[in-house]
Amino acid sequence: MDGLRTLGEQVRDCQACRLARGRTHAVPGSGAPDAEIMFVGEAPGFHEDQQGLPFVGAAGQFLDQLLQSIGLTRSQVYIANVVKCRPPNNRDPQPDELEACRPFLDRQIALIKPKIIVTLGRFSMQLAFPGTSISKVHGQPVRIGDITYYPMFHPAAALHQPRYRTFIEQDMLRLPALLEEIKAGQQSSPTSSSRPEQLSLF
Ligand code: URA
Repeated sequence: MDGLRTLGEQVRDCQACRLARGRTHAVPGSGAPDAEIMFVGEAPGFHEDQQGLPFVGAAGQFLDQLLQSIGLTRSQVYIANVVKCRPPNNRDPQPDELEACRPFLDRQIALIKPKIIVTLGRFSMQLAFPGTSISKVHGQPVRIGDITYYPMFHPAAALHQPRYRTFIEQDMLRLPALLEEIKAGQQSSPTSSSRPEQLSLF
């Protein structure tokens, strides 16, 4: 926990890119420091910037419902973003901003050691599925080293385009079985490779 707290202070002090100048609050992340499942979104929006917490606006309310659908609350998972400060007018994060912020996310992952990272939307998807389209890979887990990456559409997509809602809800409902499969696999084979490996469940 101390590691995450220190990291949070470093995020709040960070001046590594232009987004620091426009922020009200940096948004390091929140949730269980030993979470098995970590959700990674894109960047804080208006409400997140106001409160210093991730996913507290409309997309966050939908994320809460999705978590509830699998019997979880946000205190049982960890929620963060690839970029910790709000881009002006919610524009896309730029490559240099993503690069400047990446060490924070890498350290969060190293401290939390989640079994699954759910990537929400196309920016965090780049962590494990560079150069591919989310429409092609959503709901298909890939293991890299000790972590299984599970790409989902961003919850905000469902708010803007209702046809995505079913995809997001269905992908979420598969998460508990995926976690169980990973835990069962870790008990039977404690070693893992650092090469991407498509998992068999879906
Ligand atoms: N969208 C994101 O990607 N992250 C947030 O924290 C809020 C909205």
